[in-house]
Amino acid sequence: MTADPRWQAVKALREILPANGQGHSLREALKMHRQPLEGSARGLMADLCFGVCRHRALLEHWLNQQLQKPLKASALDVRLALLCGIYERWFTDRPAHAVVNAYPDLCRTLKAPWAAGLTNAVLRKAGNVDPVAYAADLPVELACSLPRWLWQQWQADWPEQAEAIARASITEAPMTLRANRRYGDRDGMITALAAQDISAQPGTRAPFALYLDQAVSVEQLPGFRDGVLSVQDEAAQLPAELIEAPEQGRILDACAAPGGKTGQLAERFPLATLVALDQDTRRLARVRETLKRLGAEATVVAGDAAAPDSWWDGEQFDAILLDAPCSATGILRRQPDVKWHRRADDIPALVGLQARMLDALWPLISPGGMLVYATCSTLKAENADQVSAFLARQADARDDTPDILGPDTLEQATLGDLPVNAGAQLLPQEGRHDGFYVARLRKTAIA
Ligand SMILES: C[S@@+](CC[C@H](N)C(=O)[O-])C[C@H]1O[C@@H](n2cnc3c(N)ncnc32)[C@H](O)[C@@H]1O
Repeated sequence: MTADPRWQAVKALREILPANGQGHSLREALKMHRQPLEGSARGLMADLCFGVCRHRALLEHWLNQQLQKPLKASALDVRLALLCGIYERWFTDRPAHAVVNAYPDLCRTLKAPWAAGLTNAVLRKAGNVDPVAYAADLPVELACSLPRWLWQQWQADWPEQAEAIARASITEAPMTLRANRRYGDRDGMITALAAQDISAQPGTRAPFALYLDQAVSVEQLPGFRDGVLSVQDEAAQLPAELIEAPEQGRILDACAAPGGKTGQLAERFPLATLVALDQDTRRLARVRETLKRLGAEATVVAGDAAAPDSWWDGEQFDAILLDAPCSATGILRRQPDVKWHRRADDIPALVGLQARMLDALWPLISPGGMLVYATCSTLKAENADQVSAFLARQADARDDTPDILGPDTLEQATLGDLPVNAGAQLLPQEGRHDGFYVARLRKTAIA
């Protein structure tokens, strides 16, 4: 008998969202538990895990209102199965009877036959609820399934945009690609995709970004295996586009793994000496895979970006890309588990690490060179405030961030860039890019 994708989803979710809150990442848990599944069953399992993480607070709130007495802590699997079932009824078009019948059976597999009747009743009732109307009457924090600290921080940082950020962050992200400029221009790539019945639109902010109308598996992308296309959000494509360096210059990608931006730098600067550094040796293996797929070369180094003495050969760089570890609060659409794993207390530690990296890497840049600082965060402390403090510390640094955002033709581009005191802040936008921050810092010739 083949494995049940709903059961595999419950197994993964109990590792992502355990009772003690210290869960595995969604990506790791999927990898661990999808093994016995194939094809569409894997797709169903992944959808359940993403969907429950994305809408967790909303689903829990409604479920709790249905229960006459709370479920015991020991019934975690039953609770997770119920959340999966409610998610399926509310946010997918799977046939009602298939969903309503699947979960009581699953309760028996979970050795909780006592929950079969309850599950059946709850899932029938869920079918009578319009989740959009239900969420509309709830506070944003609950409707958009946000941890309280994050919602409060967004309100403090972006009083006018907080609700739009929250609403964009609950949507599903589009599949965005980067066309490899070595193989021609973006329009040619759109035509090549159309020939495979894959419809794509150009991005408006990064010159080689493409949005697919419908997500496909990477195997279906023409030339994916040969590096013609890569999967990368449009905002994430901006930092490497801001790097300026001589054709044969020296460029450091200081937090390189898994190599998305290293690959992009290799496409832009094929003759440069490119060094890809990361502390995580396991993730560095993915940088090597990315470079191999793109047919590109870089020196891959394991080391701490905040302690260059242990790995730097003393030769300065023309440009450094520092895509720093951060709260990931700009990419909740793609990593909804981050909402439940990240804590408010993590932020000061991240801000401290980012500052140490900036200070340690700055002396490695030759006069006139640059450092591009980027995060996938929406928090000021990690972004504009971080860079402003750095500029105040470093007499030979100036903010040289160009107007990367430019005119925008799409109607839904309501958030876009924000007036910040340093660099450029992008906020997540429905159907478009993630939240991202980027600042280009130029080293003046004389300190
Ligand atoms: C945002 S991710 C980088 C994503 C990558 N630039 C890309 O485009 O694929 C941050 C990376 O920083 C690495 N990192 C964290 N602390 C580090 C440190 N002290 N020194 C070097 N790398 C570090 C993490 O292992 C992680 O791979």
